Amino acid sequence: MKRYLFFLTILCFASGYIANAQAGQQSGKIDTFRPLEVWPDADGNHIQAHGGGIIKIKKTYYWYGEQRSKDLDPQYKYVSCYSSKDLLNWQFRGNVLKMLPPDTLTAKWVLERPKVFYNAKTKKYVMYFHIDDRGYKVAQVGVAVCDKPDGEFQYVKRFRPLGHESRDIGQFIDDNNTPYLVFEDRPNGFHIASLSDDYMDVVKDMTLVKAHMEGGAIVNYNGLYYSIGSGLTGWKPNPNKYSTAPTLEGPWTEFKDIAPPEKNTYSSQSTMLIKVTGTKKTTVIYMGDMWKPSTQWDSRYIWMPLEIGDGKLWLPEPRPWKLNIKTGEVTFPD
Ligand code: GAL
Repeated sequence: MKRYLFFLTILCFASGYIANAQAGQQSGKIDTFRPLEVWPDADGNHIQAHGGGIIKIKKTYYWYGEQRSKDLDPQYKYVSCYSSKDLLNWQFRGNVLKMLPPDTLTAKWVLERPKVFYNAKTKKYVMYFHIDDRGYKVAQVGVAVCDKPDGEFQYVKRFRPLGHESRDIGQFIDDNNTPYLVFEDRPNGFHIASLSDDYMDVVKDMTLVKAHMEGGAIVNYNGLYYSIGSGLTGWKPNPNKYSTAPTLEGPWTEFKDIAPPEKNTYSSQSTMLIKVTGTKKTTVIYMGDMWKPSTQWDSRYIWMPLEIGDGKLWLPEPRPWKLNIKTGEVTFPD
């Protein structure tokens, strides 16, 4: 009898524990993208990954971005890393880069728009970022590497890609896995350039688009390349635009609005286009930042599925939406 009671107690305990754990997991999860609202990570903190980029390693997405929390040590610049299986529920994996100003740069330096590429040959994660002085005169990219997606990245070097000024950078990985760096070159326009075999250098200009645009992002959708970018108005939003081309080399069409121009891209600025190839549908997500220059830690995000195809691209007015990460289908709750 005693033995029976003992097992019964253990059983009750275990099932209660499992139920609680499941409930905890369930209740901690979110199921709807809510553009412009605070976006809590798995610990309930607003996601700090501004001007970011996303890569997918097997079934896991990693989101890297500017860490701009309030309580940071101002001596350093930080890049954060989050992981997710569904692009919506993100786990903070730590600040993967914590950096003092390198060599001749001084205290008020700038590290923005980090993007990480995974090199399957070298098995290294290679991070590019915009590195600058406070006056934005240096205009270079910085490179850091790591053996793990969420380990401590080590700074390696900084340079002007192909000898050109480089401020905002963007990342594009084509369907055949070829990586490209998009970089804004103030005197000339923006470049889409390929990387060396080890990804540690920028080696070849695919194209120079002679449009003065930043926040550059690209997607390959149904065999056509779409590029989007913003005007050069700093933190202030402006009407972002898009262009298309049959190959990365061009020719690129005239730029057109992605939303009613008076809406200023719904107060956001492009940073990336994410393609989700599902079993039923391919969805392209506009990933944009809504900057709050004087309270940067509270800067928000607009992620919205785009209306895209046949050479047209349109950002619908932000509203809550859901994504089925398996099928790629999008729904809009009432
Ligand atoms: C924006 C740029 C941001 C940041 C900001 C500073 O144009 O996209 O990444 O550099 O200017 O004013």
